[in-house]
Parts: sequence; structure tokens; C-alpha cells
Amino acid sequence: MARDGRKGWEAVPTRDLGSYSEPPSARRSGFAACCCSCLPGCALVSGLLFLVFGVLVVIYMQAHVDAYINKLLAFSEDSPTYHAWKEPPVAIKTKLYFFNLTNKEEFLAGTAKPRLQEVGPYVLGEKWDRKNVTFHPNGTLSSQLAKTLYLIEEESVGPETDLITTLNVPMISAAAKVRYEKDTMRQTTSGLLEVLEEYPIIVRSVHELVFGYPDPLVKLAKNVQPPGQSLPYESFGYFVGSVSVVVVLSVSVLKTPSAGPPMLINTGQSDFPQDRRHRAVRWLAAAAPSGTRASANMINGSDGTVYPPGANESTIVYLFARDICTQHGAPL
Ligand SMILES: *[C@@H]1O[C@H](CO)[C@@H](O)[C@H](O)[C@H]1NC(C)=O
Ligand SMILES: *[C@@H]1O[C@H](CO)[C@@H](O)[C@H](O)[C@H]1NC(C)=O
Ligand SMILES: *[C@@H]1O[C@H](CO)[C@@H](O)[C@H](O)[C@H]1NC(C)=O
Ligand SMILES: *[C@@H]1O[C@H](CO)[C@@H](O)[C@H](O)[C@H]1NC(C)=O
Ligand SMILES: *[C@@H]1O[C@H](CO)[C@@H](O)[C@H](O)[C@H]1NC(C)=O
Repeated sequence: MARDGRKGWEAVPTRDLGSYSEPPSARRSGFAACCCSCLPGCALVSGLLFLVFGVLVVIYMQAHVDAYINKLLAFSEDSPTYHAWKEPPVAIKTKLYFFNLTNKEEFLAGTAKPRLQEVGPYVLGEKWDRKNVTFHPNGTLSSQLAKTLYLIEEESVGPETDLITTLNVPMISAAAKVRYEKDTMRQTTSGLLEVLEEYPIIVRSVHELVFGYPDPLVKLAKNVQPPGQSLPYESFGYFVGSVSVVVVLSVSVLKTPSAGPPMLINTGQSDFPQDRRHRAVRWLAAAAPSGTRASANMINGSDGTVYPPGANESTIVYLFARDICTQHGAPL
């Protein structure tokens, strides 16, 4: 069906595809003309196009997506993360177990090994209340944390008036401290402990052990120790010293919680390196308790409720706990 003398006609494919063999030069023009007949090629090319497009999106859009996520994660009045941080939606609970000495008399008489019975859990609930939250223009935020502790009686084995027979920690600490001192020093300490009526074993309620009871030795230590080493408290208890802690008895609220020292954290709004976002910067006022290890003043992480964006399974998340004066790193 090709006309004589006109090459163009020769290139036009005939309907009779079965017998017609296309010259290579004709394939390109034929492609558009009969797309239906070369569907696989069409799909391949468009697939490749989409692939290239996808790769470009990943390369160029990832930055935008990251920026958007980071914007949501940064603390601002309208970011969901900020509200979750301000009023943590999860209840924080601490389970306490005590070792109750059940053969006090025999043990003190030296006729038997101590027989200890584990009692617990006594479940402490923590209510976190962030006060004085102030955004600063340089991408930081200061706030104070007020913690309220209360015993969740229905989840505990007993009321906080349960009596526990246990070691007298202040007395044993004092005795341990002078263990290798000169005889005179040891005798003086021993006499002092007797005068103060300190015994190695005490019977105290769960409430007293947790939230503190006045101890003459601790009070004395507070007054005689050189400044810098002195204890800031007059009572002993395992949770005494977390300054912001205030006891709420299950029966009546004693007083409203006082807030801890103000702390400055990065909001994530500024261009901090990724891993510095949401990190605590420092205490604004009274620093960590004095006379403690160097790591006590290293606030190198968050309080555990937030961590920098972009974390994965191998990321070590640093958090510090003021109550135990230290920071910890743990994998996510
Ligand atoms: C602890 O042991 C004493 C006896 O040594 C007992 O009277 C007391 O009930 C025990 N406390 C608890 C909580 O079981
Ligand atoms: C908030 O800060 C002000 C001064 O900066 C202070 O007087 C006030 O006691 C703080 N509020 C709380 C609840 O700590
Ligand atoms: C950011 O502002 C706060 C409050 O004004 C200030 O205490 C802090 O030092 C500032 N941080 C930097 C890095 O400038
Ligand atoms: C914070 O933690 C990192 C990682 O272990 C450590 O290299 C750095 O010295 C720490 N800085 C402070 C101030 O604690
Ligand atoms: C986890 O994130 C760090 C950067 O924060 C990166 O170097 C590392 O390759 C990531 N690991 C995995 C398994 O994605």
C-alpha cells in the first residue's frame, strides 16, 4: 500500500500486522499511533516515570514532611505535644515494697538471722502539675513542676498506717560513717546514739517511711555538718527531699503542692540540633541539691515525658530524675 516514489508512505504500517514487519525507524512514530497494541511498554514507561517522581518526592518532600512533623512536635500553645507534656495523660505510679523484720527480738539478741518478709505493693500515685509555664522568645520555655503524691489504697495491700519493722537508716549510716575512725570518735558516736535513743531497728508506718518522720539524728546532722554537706531536711523518709513532693493523705489534703525550682527547656521551635530539642537546659534558680555528685548537676535529657523527634529503636533517650539526683540514658 505504499505509493511509488514517496518514502513516507512506505513507513505507514498496514493493518495486516501479522505479515508486516515494521522497519526499525517506523517504530517510534507507530508508538503514539497505536498505544493499545503496546500497552506493556506504555505501563513500563509510566511506571518508570512514577518511580522517578516518587524518588524525587522522597528526596525533596521528606524535608518538608520532617519540618511539618517537627513543627507539630515543637512546644507552642497550639501543638498537641505541648498539651500532652503540660498535663500528662498517663497516671504515674510507683510501687513500693518493704522488707518487714519479723523476728526483731531474736535478731537484736543475736540468736537468730534476720527473718524478712516482703510486704507490698503500696502504690503511690503521682500527679504532675506544671506551673508558671512561660515561653521565651529564644526558643526556650521555663516551668516549675509540682508533684503530688498519694497512696492509692485500692491497689495497695494495706493502708498507709501499716507498721513496718525495719532498719533505722540514719543511725546505721552514722555508725557506718565512723566505722574506721579512731576509738574516741567511735565511742563518742556510740554515746551520742544512746543519748538520742536511737536503736538499729525501728517500727514505723508506711506513711512515715515514705514521706518522712522527724529524726533527732538527722536534725542534729543538719545543724552540725559543714555547709555544703549538710542535709537540708530535719526528717528522714525515702521520699523526703524531692522538694516538690507534698503529701496528700488518703483522708485529707494537707496543703497545696509547692512547686520545684524553675527549669528551662528547649521548645524545639528554634533551629537547635535535632537531639537538643526538648532537652532541659538548666535549672533557673536553686540548682540541684548541693554536695552531690557531679552528674547530679548534669541535666542532659528531658524529664521523661518528651524526647527529641526522629528517635528510633537504637536511640538512647536521656532523662534525669531530680529525686535521685542523676541522669540516665536508656534505649527507647
Ligand atoms: C511486720 O511485722 C510485724 C511483726 O514483726 C507485724 O506486727 C506487722 O503486722 C508486719 N507488717 C506488715 C505490713 O505485714
Ligand atoms: C511563679 O513565678 C513567680 C515569680 O516568677 C513566683 O512568685 C510564683 O511563686 C511562681 N508560682 C508558683 C506556683 O511557683
Ligand atoms: C533564653 O531565655 C531565657 C529566659 O530569658 C534565658 O534564661 C536563657 O539564658 C536564654 N537562652 C539562651 C541560649 O539565650
Ligand atoms: C550528655 O550525654 C552525652 C551522651 O552520653 C555525653 O556525651 C555528655 O557528656 C553529657 N553531657 C552532660 C552535660 O551531661
Ligand atoms: C537511628 O537514628 C540515628 C540518628 O538519630 C541514625 O544514625 C541511625 O542510623 C538510626 N537507626 C536506624 C536503625 O534507623
